[in-house]
Amino acid sequence: MLRRLNFRGTRNVFGNFLYSTNATNTASQIRGLQTNEHSLRLCDIIGNITVQTSAPLVPEIKLHLITSQCKLWRSPPEDCPVSDPYWAFFWPGGQALCRYLLDNPWICKNKTVLDIGSGSGALSIAAAMCGAAFVVANDIDPVANEAMKMNIRLNNSTVENKGLEQVRFHCLDLLPTDFNEPLKKDMKSQDLAMQNTCEGQQALFNVVLIGDMCYDEDVASRLFLLLRSMQLACPESTILLGDPGRHGLSVLSDHVEIEKEYALPVDCDWGFPSSRVYRFVDRPPR
Ligand SMILES: C[S@@+](CC[C@H](N)C(=O)[O-])C[C@H]1O[C@@H](n2cnc3c(N)ncnc32)[C@H](O)[C@@H]1O
Repeated sequence: MLRRLNFRGTRNVFGNFLYSTNATNTASQIRGLQTNEHSLRLCDIIGNITVQTSAPLVPEIKLHLITSQCKLWRSPPEDCPVSDPYWAFFWPGGQALCRYLLDNPWICKNKTVLDIGSGSGALSIAAAMCGAAFVVANDIDPVANEAMKMNIRLNNSTVENKGLEQVRFHCLDLLPTDFNEPLKKDMKSQDLAMQNTCEGQQALFNVVLIGDMCYDEDVASRLFLLLRSMQLACPESTILLGDPGRHGLSVLSDHVEIEKEYALPVDCDWGFPSSRVYRFVDRPPR
């Protein structure tokens, strides 16, 4: 398992793993179950393969994570009952950005927040803890929804009054695929999807959060297109990225400014000495 995800040390953590097509899909694996049963079964699976823990940089947030204490850490990938459990790790980019949000709660307070590639939901939870009005956690993995709900429950007492209610999960690939398509002011169907997710609320987010999504240059390029269109649509929005220095970040290097750098504790540094928070700034292409 550990070898397949290649968690430690390399800059290309995901390699060709992220879009692997041969991995078993949990949803289809337990197809036929009713939504409730399906959800309960997933909760069991998530509970069984993870431990409840927190990262040293973000002790305020407890998460269900696969750590070296878990059997799966040393097992072959086939033993994992769910495919590609990225939600089961708190990635260094996400850790730095969470720390930054919790130390600067005004960034999310009373704001509408979008967390792209939410994984465990740590950033959405941090935003909710800071008093966000509404948070959309977006991830292409439907299992991340169940993991996030479990993680919210773990932290419920610290999420301002509203508990689960201000965080919604949105399972869709929002990143544009057509590299030749000119940037548009509106996001067309994606915009509509957002509006549905927000249940009628204004789909322009005040704050957009991206934790550790630059693991691959293609994803980073698609992310760039999305962030640019979002910023064109809503120039006042704050777009923040957390990243430990992955190679895909080079795609965005002309469009980000460093906000803060955090040293990573040695025993959970993933091969990176530090992780940074960046602000996305739209500049005309050179
Ligand atoms: C490295 S994990 C980061 C998770 C979390 N943000 C953190 O920092 O701990 C990347 C996440 O992005 C999700 N992801 C990958 N491509 C995506 C896309 N096109 N749209 C939304 N989520 C995506 C993956 O499923 C995974 O949960």
